[in-house]
Amino acid sequence: MGSHERFRFKTLDELRRRVEELGLDLEFDEDLAPLRHRVKVGSYETPNALAVHPMEGCDGERDGRPGELTIRRYERFARGGAGLLWFEATAIEHAGRANPRQLTLTRQTLPHLREMLEHSLQLARQANGPGFRPLTVLQLTFSGRYSKPDGKPAPVIAHHDGVLDKAMGIPEDYPLISDDELDALQDRWVEAAALAQEAGFDAVDVKSCHRYLPSELLAAHTRPGKYGGAFENRTRLHYAIVERIHDEVPGLMVTMRLNAYDGHPYPWGWGVDERDPLVPDLTEPIRFVRGLRERGMQMVNITAGNPYFTPHINRPYDVPVLGGRVPDEHPLLGVARIIDVARQIKRAVPEMVVVASGYSWLRQFLGNAAAATIRRGDADLVGLGRGAFAYPDFARDLVNDGALAPKKCCITCSRCTQIMRDGGQTGCVVFDRQVYGPIYQAGRDKRT
Ligand SMILES: Cc1cc2nc3c(=O)[nH]c(=O)nc-3n(C[C@H](O)[C@H](O)[C@H](O)COP(=O)(O)O)c2cc1C
Repeated sequence: MGSHERFRFKTLDELRRRVEELGLDLEFDEDLAPLRHRVKVGSYETPNALAVHPMEGCDGERDGRPGELTIRRYERFARGGAGLLWFEATAIEHAGRANPRQLTLTRQTLPHLREMLEHSLQLARQANGPGFRPLTVLQLTFSGRYSKPDGKPAPVIAHHDGVLDKAMGIPEDYPLISDDELDALQDRWVEAAALAQEAGFDAVDVKSCHRYLPSELLAAHTRPGKYGGAFENRTRLHYAIVERIHDEVPGLMVTMRLNAYDGHPYPWGWGVDERDPLVPDLTEPIRFVRGLRERGMQMVNITAGNPYFTPHINRPYDVPVLGGRVPDEHPLLGVARIIDVARQIKRAVPEMVVVASGYSWLRQFLGNAAAATIRRGDADLVGLGRGAFAYPDFARDLVNDGALAPKKCCITCSRCTQIMRDGGQTGCVVFDRQVYGPIYQAGRDKRT
């Protein structure tokens, strides 16, 4: 429905008209007061309802410590005034890194992460007032199919996939990660959670999205053994990790960034209609989130899609990465879909705090959509990914001025992703040009 169109809306009314023409359930409020809501998450309370999503810059040191640009990114995010800072994908061990510069949490890197966190919180106070304390979550990851710890693909797969195996050149007899290895990964996750607590983070995220290992496992319908087939098996690892962190790392909050919808064909996809992967079927994701709540989880961050394979589902855009596809759907449809997925989860499990994703395409009107989302009870917080790279002060401007400056908003040009694909350290090429313009160019020169 509705072919692709670039963002060219000058007024909210123009945007509302297009939403109406497309028949989408997407509302925009003029009153942005809901963005100032303080949100209770367990024993914490966020200073507002805006979040910075995890956004990795591929700029850690070889040993997994934050690098100069990593520290700079969190300085900017922290000053920006969001009530929730969700720190980026941080590997629980070297083999699970998605790139050689992905952060890794070990006993050796812990002091550096602690220093970065403390420094960020100090800057958040300086910029936003002495009582300002954002909630902090560290995303813990094992990249699985997309592991590339030494720069070359080193996939660790939970199940064969009729689409992705072919696309990635993974042969039919490529071994699956064994049940014993998955058991051992539970230990790594719990150890990393303990280190994250020592570093001072309020919470960890058992990253289960974007088709990295735990996300792929949720769709392991065809896998034999105790981690495959039935729902109980496909969710076994996640539930065990959550329960064990609660037992073994008391006082640390456990959260999850969750793909509630893969947009990938059954039986290899999760959260999809068995006949049509373009149609979400959230029966299992809702059951899963209920189970997480029963196990004491207070907050989930809902996302969707596969950034390598269906990036338009994960983050609707104007321009794809080079050689990428302009999807045959209107980006507003993508925005409405991802917002609806979070809404369905929130409506089904209202006691769970839900963070919603996928708003950056809406540019200067994203605050209006976020306010409507929160007012309607469709999510509790709204986060930005690319929008935070481009405009790290977005939260302060929305909360204090009630508006975003149109000329500072992310234009969804995919150049931040392009840098990643080219193997560089990433950020916003358009609005942080002095730093990332040359990196972008160097990556392009190397590839062409
Ligand atoms: C360069 C880049 C890095 C990202 N890093 C992460 C990450 O570390 N963890 C994660 O869960 N999502 C990551 N994402 C996804 C974003 O958090 C977010 O879900 C996505 O960009 C859609 O939100 P947006 O429309 O506000 O950009 C990344 C996206 C981009 C473009």
